[in-house]
Amino acid sequence: MELAYDPIRKLMDEHQVFLSRVESARQLWRQGLRSPRRSAELARNVLSFADFLGRDVDGLHEAKEERVLFPLLVHHLPEHEGEVSAVLTEHEVVRELHLTLEKSGEALLHDIGDEKACGKISRTLNAIEALLSEHIVKEDFVLFPLAQELLSRREMMEVAQACLEIEQSYRERYGQNPHLLSTGVPLSVA
Ligand SMILES: [Fe+2]
Ligand SMILES: [Fe+2]
Repeated sequence: MELAYDPIRKLMDEHQVFLSRVESARQLWRQGLRSPRRSAELARNVLSFADFLGRDVDGLHEAKEERVLFPLLVHHLPEHEGEVSAVLTEHEVVRELHLTLEKSGEALLHDIGDEKACGKISRTLNAIEALLSEHIVKEDFVLFPLAQELLSRREMMEVAQACLEIEQSYRERYGQNPHLLSTGVPLSVA
């Protein structure tokens, strides 16, 4: 039985989507701030990125890591529990930053001249970029290679199946997301 869907590869592809989405959100924000006439679109872009963080980064990607992959990894390597709990703490920080961004984006939508909200958005976007870059390095270069080395083929197939189920319920809830799910990796276990 061959694995047509590689759950680790898919998580790594999603990381690349996150990095480019964070970069484009920051770029849009900087351009909007420089513009002599701010429009509500500036706030809407922030809110759209906040949605992406809550729905795609947290609700889909981090759910696959937290519910499926990391518990199995800790089971194999209890001595690496510290590294896993460090990345889980970072997931919590992403959730907090998401809420801060959402709150500040709404304040800005309400009052486009709200300088306090602008300052908070700039700082939060920078914090998200710094955190996600470091976080992704830890997963791509430490935790995921450990999982690839230690999990048996059967376990990896179980991980694949559980990840596909999470993706399926995400699709049923939100529909196909062209930014995240279409990363060119087949979506079935053959
Ligand atoms: Fe993660
Ligand atoms: Fe990740």
